[in-house]
Amino acid sequence: MKKSFLFLFCLCFFFACNTYRSLPELVYNNDWETLTIEATAQIRNGDAAAGWKYLTEGDYIGSGIPFDLVKKKIATQKDTVLNRTGANENLPFGLTAFQHNNGTTVMSGNCLTCHGGYLNDEFIVGLGGFGSEFNDFSKNNAPTFKALNTLVKIKYKKDSKEREAYDIFGKINKEALSYIVTPFEGVNPAFRLEEAYIMKRNKEDLTLQEDSNYKLDKRYTLASDVPPWWHLKKKNALYYNGMGRGDFTKLLMQASTQGIKDSTEARAIQQNFIDVLAYLETLEAPKYPKPVNEKIIWQGEKLFNKKCSQCHGTYGEIEAYPNKLVALETVKTDPYYAQNFSTKMHLADWYNESWYGQSEPKSFVQPMDGYIAPPLDGIWATAPYFHNASVPTLEGVLNSKIRPTYWRRIAELDYEKMGWRYQEMTKGGNKKTYNTTLPGYSNQGHDFGDEFTKEQRMAVIEYLKTL
Ligand code: HEC
Ligand code: HEC
Repeated sequence: MKKSFLFLFCLCFFFACNTYRSLPELVYNNDWETLTIEATAQIRNGDAAAGWKYLTEGDYIGSGIPFDLVKKKIATQKDTVLNRTGANENLPFGLTAFQHNNGTTVMSGNCLTCHGGYLNDEFIVGLGGFGSEFNDFSKNNAPTFKALNTLVKIKYKKDSKEREAYDIFGKINKEALSYIVTPFEGVNPAFRLEEAYIMKRNKEDLTLQEDSNYKLDKRYTLASDVPPWWHLKKKNALYYNGMGRGDFTKLLMQASTQGIKDSTEARAIQQNFIDVLAYLETLEAPKYPKPVNEKIIWQGEKLFNKKCSQCHGTYGEIEAYPNKLVALETVKTDPYYAQNFSTKMHLADWYNESWYGQSEPKSFVQPMDGYIAPPLDGIWATAPYFHNASVPTLEGVLNSKIRPTYWRRIAELDYEKMGWRYQEMTKGGNKKTYNTTLPGYSNQGHDFGDEFTKEQRMAVIEYLKTL
């Protein structure tokens, strides 16, 4: 008994070491510290109200589970979050029932699965990460999907419309879900999912093919935080490393690769995303709900404008956001996310040669070794911090020495340290514990607040609450 345990341990250790050894070498490009990303032309004649309707009820996932099969089990409570009607009347906010091209009603996840959450019991559109029942990716859902595939096969005949409307969704998810199991909850593997969705898509017409465009490594899942949607209107490039360039309507519809049939369907969706973009650009950051200490804000603002605004912009009367991409060498936060895209170009290559990069309006992916210094509007509401969600409070962002190595979220805001209340743990290895010793999840860097005195730091935090 003991021996086999030891053997198992060694085996796990071997695989763990092997996994880490195969991560890409760090290569720095030393020519720049911060780059300004210039604005590119965007289609800005959308209808925001139509965009909201499409976002919450539209057919952008393309295919899905036959609604009749799951309706009784899932559509059980009135949707009091989005107050939808019709087929969506009794669905949770993260799911949408819509009509497939062939006329049958199907159900899938929607954008709010990852981009909607609760703060103080209030639902906030565009708030990512925790606070949503959909946001635990540490479970492996591939077996559930296999069972669903079987159920659909038993229930519907081979040439039925339901099977047709489920086919791509079932095929893609069965494979993709096994690539996205995160080492703990609280991080989001959306890009991994995207890599899995397009792995077998033909780049010219986006149809599914037999052969894989590239190989994905199942052994380790890199994931990130989810940026809030209300920053979009200030940004010239999307994603943490600024790799999303060119036309936003196409970048925003990436989730469609989960279930669409081809580029003809993609085109129709892109037209609707002109409205979605208009809607997203109406969003504002939620206001800080408590009184702030007026006596120290001015001091915080002064310090901020001296030490932080060159990267993060200015707020208040003179709003200016510089769209800075900051080199890994300068920001020194965990490099692995940026490196993952800049050293392994399969995603960028596929994207840039595909329908997205080749047809108008063109968008493209340009990975660089750096991270965007994000706008800080509503920063009080968006803990945990950094692209990898590794630091639970603003106090920790501004003092690299007090960041916890292993920590567990307590579902409550800490208004003093500003961020999540957490319990510090002595070790990782548990799905509830954030483990900053794993590759990609370190809490290093961004030491720009380290030299503040305690009072100065508290003043800056107080000021940040007002943004
Ligand atoms: C599986 C979870 C998931 C789903 C579903 C999802 N997203 Fe995201 N989204 C993310 C994550 C994670 C990121 C951050 C990726 C990065 O920056 O590297 C992101 C990034 C974004 C951004 C970029 C914001 C910025 O500041 O750079 C926008 C906008 C966005 N998503 C909109 C959408 C829309 C619209 C949909 C639906 C069509 C959608 N997302 C579906 C998880 C998701
Ligand atoms: C040289 C540029 C630079 C300076 C100076 C700088 N930052 Fe940052 N900041 C960044 C970058 C880049 C990130 C994103 C890092 C990441 O996600 O890994 C960031 C992230 C943050 C975040 C987390 C954002 C989020 O949504 O998770 C906060 C808060 C922040 N900075 C506040 C400050 C404050 C306050 C100062 C001044 C003491 C400051 N920064 C100075 C570049 C800078």
